[in-house]
Amino acid sequence: MSALKNDLFIRALLKKEVERTPMWIMRQAGRYLPEYRATRKRAGNFLTLCKTPELACEVTMQPLDRYSLDAAILFSDILTIPDALGLGLQFSEGEGPSFKSPITNMADVDRITHIEPINELRYVTDAVSLIRKELDGRVPLIGFSGSPWTLATYMVEGKGSKEFHKVKGMLYREPETLEKLLEVLSNSVTNYLAAQIDAGAQAVMIFDTWGGVLSKECYLKYSLSPMKKIVQDLKKLSSAKDIPIVLFTKGGGNWLNEMAATGCDALGLDWTTEINVARAQVGDKVALQGNLDPCVLYGSDQVIRDEVKKVLDKFGKGSGHILNLGHGIQQYVDPAKVSVLVEAVKEFSPEYH
Ligand code: CP3
Repeated sequence: MSALKNDLFIRALLKKEVERTPMWIMRQAGRYLPEYRATRKRAGNFLTLCKTPELACEVTMQPLDRYSLDAAILFSDILTIPDALGLGLQFSEGEGPSFKSPITNMADVDRITHIEPINELRYVTDAVSLIRKELDGRVPLIGFSGSPWTLATYMVEGKGSKEFHKVKGMLYREPETLEKLLEVLSNSVTNYLAAQIDAGAQAVMIFDTWGGVLSKECYLKYSLSPMKKIVQDLKKLSSAKDIPIVLFTKGGGNWLNEMAATGCDALGLDWTTEINVARAQVGDKVALQGNLDPCVLYGSDQVIRDEVKKVLDKFGKGSGHILNLGHGIQQYVDPAKVSVLVEAVKEFSPEYH
């Protein structure tokens, strides 16, 4: 495999010196891009897009062909694992994801304990290999997974939720069922990320979208502790030990010290956390990724440029910063605004290094 022509992202994750701040955008391949919508239409639906390596590769490359981003992210979804565990994932237009057979009790968990999801996820590792070939060393490729807790929320609720009454009800009513489910998922996520790394992923990110709905005590026990086990298990593998790991808990700003103590290499920050405060707390241990409000992209070009300056100023001089949004880019964003963002980072960030 070819050496990386642009390794700014990897260097920043490892807090090594860089000439400018690298950037990529969560959900950079997605509905705000007309070429993405065209490929999805050709695929017929979102899941077929995910499950066809050639199409997943095509949409992964789309944002890189438009913008000078410093990383590619595998096009897939976090719900591939529950799908492979037999829950029957479906995406209905405008409604988001749902499962035909959600997890409701211990018998449901027992049924999935002996399935090895990685056997069903060959389409993901095939996509990773194909993307690496297509990238030809342009920028690094990020692999990813959902966190066990975030996957459990979808598997127990059966779909997206605002109140999380089923999964949090399970937590307080029958914690042993949730614990068993999280154990199954921890092993699945470790194997899944290790397989993505073996196929060519050069960094991995764990998306804990719903850790922030828990109390601190429950976050540490049900969300962070499974993520810590995954980080530690990956760091024991000779194939994975040098691959940087990013942890992102949306709403996790109060728990950065505990997150940084997992042994991960970087933390993703949402827009509610001040990056200067985060750096003062954990900047000696981990790199920081973030944390513009995704809605700055609805502002004027000048507003976007000002917000970029603010986040660079707040982080301050030195390495260990990857510029990103604090959550995924939204479908209503004008693609031209993303150019303004990317070019502003290129223009302003060299003086911080
Ligand atoms: O960042 C990237 O470009 C990689 C692709 C990616 C997708 N989903 C593609 C996608 C990644 C990293 C994800 C992660 C994901 N998926 C998360 C965690 C990240 C986060 O946002 O916190 C979650 C919670 C999911 C589950 C999921 N997938 C939901 C709730 C939805 C529906 C909501 C929505 O935005 O429509 C999806 C669908 C989805 N995943 C789309 C994309 C591009 C939109 C599908 C479409 O084309 O209609």
